[in-house]
Amino acid sequence: MTGRVVVLGSLNVDEVWQVARLPRPGETVLALDSQRYAGGKGGNQAVAAARAGARVRMVAAVGADEAGAAYQKRLEAWGIEGALTVVAPGAADVGEVRTGRALITVDATGENAIVVDPGANGCLNESALDALADLGPGDVLLCQLEIPLGIVAAAVRQAAARGARVVVNCAPFAVLPAEVVAAADPLVCNETEAAAFADLGLLPGSWLVTFGAAGCSWDGEQYVAPLVPAAEVVDTTGAGDAFCGALAAALARGATRAEAVAAAHAAGAEAVR
Ligand code: RIB
Repeated sequence: MTGRVVVLGSLNVDEVWQVARLPRPGETVLALDSQRYAGGKGGNQAVAAARAGARVRMVAAVGADEAGAAYQKRLEAWGIEGALTVVAPGAADVGEVRTGRALITVDATGENAIVVDPGANGCLNESALDALADLGPGDVLLCQLEIPLGIVAAAVRQAAARGARVVVNCAPFAVLPAEVVAAADPLVCNETEAAAFADLGLLPGSWLVTFGAAGCSWDGEQYVAPLVPAAEVVDTTGAGDAFCGALAAALARGATRAEAVAAAHAAGAEAVR
């Protein structure tokens, strides 16, 4: 029987600015165009898993604002069960707590640079873990690192203790407790992040290292990604999220590693287009 994918992570409002090239430090460049999207690594991964056919629950926090309310509706429209904490104004000592935001610049080659203001994502606390209480064997918990790391660690412990599979995407990079790294099956990271973990002597139970267009390796087994011609690359933002969401969906339906990676690569390729 197909398991569920429970995504614990961030929801952001993405302000995306197209530029001819990314600004250098101290430089101002003019945007060619701009749009606003629903984003956040958690939200993107949840949508990717739902698009891949999984039953998905999103555990996240939003502000008591228009963006938070819009996100609740969007999750519903995508067929994703939302377990959202609405962070009340004044709940943190940082003033108004807004739904997370990301400022994203995308250049002519589709490359990006991202700055995230976590907002409500940073207020996610232990009470959110109630939404993991029914996880069990066959289910997949999928986490990234745009929320407090203590919550990620507690969620991983809880899910693993309940027999669920844990997939951790270590983006943006942060040092995780050794037991969390060891519980991940797999820990998904890029080459730079993998080198940083290795330098720290942190070894995942299972390790999936992505090499962008060159594919990935999973515990040393190499997998080739489908070729996306440079001319077809519009925006690389969220390609890693599409990869992780589709991977988790495939693992939840019992796919083999090769099948799961193929589905993940296809989703990543679709995302950049
Ligand atoms: O991975 C892309 C995502 O990173 C964006 O949607 C942005 O919100 C940041 O979380």
